Amino acid sequence: MMDKLNVLLLGGGGREHAMAWKMAQSPLLSQLYIAPGNGGTSEVGTNLPFGDSDFEAMKLAIIEKNISLVIVGPEAPLVKGVREFIENDDAIKHVKIVGPGAEGAQLEGSKAFSKAFMQRHNIPTARYGEFNGEQIESAKVFLSEFNPPYVLKADGLAAGKGVLIIDDRAEAELALEDMLLGGKFGAAGNKVVIEEFLKGIELSVFVLTDGNDYLILPEAKDYKRIGEGDSGLNTGGMGSISPVPFADAAYMEKVKQTIVEPTISGLKKDNISYNGFVFVGLMNVDGEPIVIEYNSRMGDPETESVMPRIKNDFLEILWNCGNQTLKNSKIEVDERTAACVMLVSGGYPEDYEKGKVMSGVEANAQTLAFHAGTTLKEGKLLTSGGRVIAFTSLANNLEDALSLSYNKIAEVKFDGMYYRTDIGFDLK
Ligand code: AMP
Ligand code: GLY
Repeated sequence: MMDKLNVLLLGGGGREHAMAWKMAQSPLLSQLYIAPGNGGTSEVGTNLPFGDSDFEAMKLAIIEKNISLVIVGPEAPLVKGVREFIENDDAIKHVKIVGPGAEGAQLEGSKAFSKAFMQRHNIPTARYGEFNGEQIESAKVFLSEFNPPYVLKADGLAAGKGVLIIDDRAEAELALEDMLLGGKFGAAGNKVVIEEFLKGIELSVFVLTDGNDYLILPEAKDYKRIGEGDSGLNTGGMGSISPVPFADAAYMEKVKQTIVEPTISGLKKDNISYNGFVFVGLMNVDGEPIVIEYNSRMGDPETESVMPRIKNDFLEILWNCGNQTLKNSKIEVDERTAACVMLVSGGYPEDYEKGKVMSGVEANAQTLAFHAGTTLKEGKLLTSGGRVIAFTSLANNLEDALSLSYNKIAEVKFDGMYYRTDIGFDLK
């Protein structure tokens, strides 16, 4: 039998709590560390007090805790080159990592890179053009070729705020000027992608690849807007459902043939060695899956409904991925439906207060609690972020799973608490 593993998970949101919760159940695990973690991850592992992109602190922890596997939760450390940092340091290069190198992470880090990648490999995506500040006039001409609404995307990472969807052409032209000439979104907006608006229902598809083989994890749908009926500002995500009824076996086969296979083979053709998650955000347009974007990580809050549906040992799968032996893994999926509802701080995604005392958050037999923005201070659980905590329940159908989650939420209290009461409304 192999030695048990000491694992370091980078990140501190609901996604990381869900992954930590799942890995903690593995017989392969010795010690699980999460950096920086949150008030929930400390229930299933040990939080380490450094940020997810503090590579020097990470190196010391890897050595001191005898870590053999690093799992990267969020995109920032990937884009910043955490893989290269580990691989190029003699003291820690033996450590296995799940998370792509900086070049592969450009699938998420640069919209222009990912659009060109999709075009090069014939992966279905919205028609687009890419423009810099010197091309403002041709950008406006290109814009005029589309019908409203207009979709403008800052090329770089903009904390989830870099996509603008605008109905009015004059307003869209102003936004283009703001981004390309006015420094809106900073350097991320120095280049802009203009693309065709896609009408349909969104779906999140998750692929884990070691560069050769891949596994498709359970799909999910998330609810990004703050308000009921998908209204109001975009957020990190207010809830998620898995599975998604329209994504049946035939649909997922189409996703596999037209998107997943060409993505994995495209990475190989481009000599981008990619080890980690590929999150395909797609739009179902009249039954056809069209890619909106790639992310180089798992989704949040999708992970909070995906992890509970994975029946077998996820740490073993990740270890095989890190070792490039993913062909030895398969994935066993619970047929039941998972419904995840996120509680957020009043005011989010705009200004909100932190440090509110929380009560009634404990998981029960029907419902899991995944902490996002929480922290433990002198024995008290306090809010520490916009998205605070997610509750996920599994049941034989969507209605029952949702009822279980909402019943649990009725017990939870903190000042300013807000959540959507209509998660899953469009799938019923
Ligand atoms: P992103 O920040 O790239 O996740 O995009 C934010 C959201 O904008 C997506 O989840 C979609 O809801 C929407 N979106 C992005 N591109 C398009 C498009 N071409 N057509 C319609 N909606 C889009
Ligand atoms: N829930 C969408 C994301 O993680 O980007």
